[in-house]
Amino acid sequence: MPTDTSSFPHDFVWGAATAAYQIEGAAREGGRGESVWDRFCATPGKVRNGDSGEIACDFYHRYRDDVALMRELGIGASRFSIAWPRVVPAGRGPVNEAGLDFYDRLVDELLAHEIEPFATLFHWDTPQALEDVGGWTSRATAEAFVEYAEAVAGRLGDRVRHWITHNEPWVHAWIGHAWGEHAPGRTSETDAVAAAHHLLLSHGWAVQAIRRAAPDAQVGIALNLSHAYPASDAPEDEAAAWQVDGEGNRWFLDPIFRGAYPSDLLERNEIVAAFVRDGDLEAVSAPLDFLGINNYFRFVVSAGADGPRMGRDSEAQHTDMGWEVYPDGLHRLLVRVARDYAPPAIYVTENGAAFGDVRVHDGRVHDPERTAYLESYIAAVSRAVADGAPVKGYFVWSLLDNFEWAYGYSKRFGIVYVDYPTLERVPKDSFYWYRDFIASRPRAPRPSPIATR
Ligand code: FCB
Repeated sequence: MPTDTSSFPHDFVWGAATAAYQIEGAAREGGRGESVWDRFCATPGKVRNGDSGEIACDFYHRYRDDVALMRELGIGASRFSIAWPRVVPAGRGPVNEAGLDFYDRLVDELLAHEIEPFATLFHWDTPQALEDVGGWTSRATAEAFVEYAEAVAGRLGDRVRHWITHNEPWVHAWIGHAWGEHAPGRTSETDAVAAAHHLLLSHGWAVQAIRRAAPDAQVGIALNLSHAYPASDAPEDEAAAWQVDGEGNRWFLDPIFRGAYPSDLLERNEIVAAFVRDGDLEAVSAPLDFLGINNYFRFVVSAGADGPRMGRDSEAQHTDMGWEVYPDGLHRLLVRVARDYAPPAIYVTENGAAFGDVRVHDGRVHDPERTAYLESYIAAVSRAVADGAPVKGYFVWSLLDNFEWAYGYSKRFGIVYVDYPTLERVPKDSFYWYRDFIASRPRAPRPSPIATR
């Protein structure tokens, strides 16, 4: 089915996304401090195959070549994250200029290739020194985050126009603090609720800090959201789907856009009350310029004896992560979020798929499933735009195969294959599809150039 993309405006942003710990490597260079992910990876049994981000894709040394690949791809924007432990190695206190220098060079390299930087301040790599004194369960980490945000925005704010405070606070809070499957590996529901609150609070504070340093900046946050479908129209299933929506989606959307936690999640409200102080929710709901949405799958929910139960449609296609391919779920999500929360703009800040790619004897990587996935999800975004959702851009996850957290290097999400033993980059067929797709779009007039230093 050809992609009907006629609803995309000419200035729609086509991009690709990455994150620091997943690609940079150079974990002990340039004065970088230890992060919770370094520690977690070094803890036996936590990450598949004992993998770590110590070398990753070596982007720290190869960023020029990778920006050249982005240029070949024709993207107008690159979403990357900044490693807090490179900038403030001890989490608080002295700023490491060498760390900032790296991002300074990266931003200049992107701009020199007419690629807009979308900088994420936090993609889960908390300095270990902060975790040692409570990490995100402690309010002091929110204060430390604002100092770090000020340092980064002060240095890059003359050139970076799009800022994302946090990436997927739900994942970091719950998978990292309640389920123990991500760093820092905590296993307490109370820790997760506290971490989520402090992440949200630090987001609100950082919005103000970024605006002070860069008054023209566009500031947002990237949430992982998934539409929750009831398995049937039975009221019990509908209630179960609403609960799942509350726990994953509304727990973040409501405080950010309405200044209040959703009142129907009674147990969670009791837990969070201990952490909320006067003025917090006002800070959390600081007006945003855009909402970033990361989406990969939907939920199908039925009522079980001990709470909501997630269904699996065995007929449907699933990716290598076991995630259902269901592009209509992204359409529904975008339309619903636009209707219920009216963000001024939305960017799809991550969407993509892992498949078991192999490099075959012709030296290429043929990944028709990924191309089909991207095509169908982009068509879903197009339908959402036609239905009035203010979506301004789309970022494929990911530019490169990379360190997929607890799965190590076993899951390949890139449109560029990375041969880990040699670190060679091999654009997959989906890279060429995305390149041709972008090239076929009516050309956007370039934004006014920003001087590079
Ligand atoms: C998201 C993360 C990103 C990547 C993709 C597959 O949850 O933000 O770093 O791992 O999933």
